[in-house]
Amino acid sequence: MRKFLFGTSTAAYQIEGDNRWSDWWYWSEKGRLPKAGKACNHWEKYEEDIKLMAELGYNAYRFSIEWGRIFPEEDKINEEALARYREIIELLLKSKIDPMVTLHHFTLPTWFALKGGFARDENLKYWERYLNAVSDILNGVRLIATTNEPMELVIEGYLTGNWPPFLRDPKTAFQVEKNLINAHSIAYETLSGKHEVGIVKSMPSIKFPDGEVAEEVENLQTFYFLDAIFEGVLKTPLGDMRVLPSSMDFIGVNYYTLHIVSKDTEPLRGLYEYEFGGYGRTQMGWKIYPRGIYEAIVKASKYGKPIYITENGIATENEDERIKFIQDHLNWVKKAMEEGYDVRGYFYWSFIDNYEWDKGFVPKFGLVSFNPETWERIPKKSAFAYGRLAKNFPYQG
Ligand code: NOJ
Repeated sequence: MRKFLFGTSTAAYQIEGDNRWSDWWYWSEKGRLPKAGKACNHWEKYEEDIKLMAELGYNAYRFSIEWGRIFPEEDKINEEALARYREIIELLLKSKIDPMVTLHHFTLPTWFALKGGFARDENLKYWERYLNAVSDILNGVRLIATTNEPMELVIEGYLTGNWPPFLRDPKTAFQVEKNLINAHSIAYETLSGKHEVGIVKSMPSIKFPDGEVAEEVENLQTFYFLDAIFEGVLKTPLGDMRVLPSSMDFIGVNYYTLHIVSKDTEPLRGLYEYEFGGYGRTQMGWKIYPRGIYEAIVKASKYGKPIYITENGIATENEDERIKFIQDHLNWVKKAMEEGYDVRGYFYWSFIDNYEWDKGFVPKFGLVSFNPETWERIPKKSAFAYGRLAKNFPYQG
């Protein structure tokens, strides 16, 4: 049996710096979003970061490849960027840190976004080109995640309008959802066999104020997307859509919080109009509900695939609170495993404080902080505590 993976997660745009070919950069230049600038300067500091992970005792690391770096223009491949990602992968393998590579984590090349991004079926051919370009550098990588939190992208980009392309248009939202499923299936067909190919799906607990599960909202948020991958039909409030069916070799679960929706809210709006109440809060205003990670594992188990917790974390300046958050959530993971659920790893979000999308650099999710002038890495109390928790976790394979 393999070792249980204990790692951290990041995403390219949030940590690398200078991702000027991506849609988020484009919109931040126009003043619609906070600027990411040099972010954590991971693009230059990756060696130090990987060394630190190894020293802290983490045996896995999930990160993403920035599509816009690889294809800054429609017909131009950046070979140097490919070589740098290869270096990162090789260094991880050499350091005995299992890499999980995410191919798409929210951002898009600007030229692709301006052509309509995933809202247009014909644009999937560019995704195929990207897959072909990156497949060469993935040797030795066991775990590949095709796309990250597709429903958050659909919700924030096309229903609330908080993220690029700032639309509030359910029809386009479902069109994008459909093509994110297709993108997963194309990637699965291209890469599975050589790699274990999965998807990263958020699974918040979604309940009514009385504690009952808000089933219809949960279907729209969680199950319809995943069901469609296996069944080839996507259910939406606007009718069914055909999608390319495929599978997944594992299911990546991101879990952070509990959403409370009112019974009077229509399910589509329930996707993003949550109420707050009770429970501890984080810097994001999210409720702290550790049992929800167990509920997420139970939900994910419906698909019969190995489960990785690909993200779980808290935005806080209080280190004791962060350590308690991790401990409490790991206890629920442990309980699920004792009951026989097939959980293979846990990745804390995030390795380092970083660019939290439309919230900028304010929320502090990291186990490590950095000095924005010298780029010095400063492990927090939780960084060491997490290493100890990993060491003492009973499931070491
Ligand atoms: C999930 C997203 O994948 C990640 O990019 C984000 O920073 C964290 N949630 C925290 O909000």
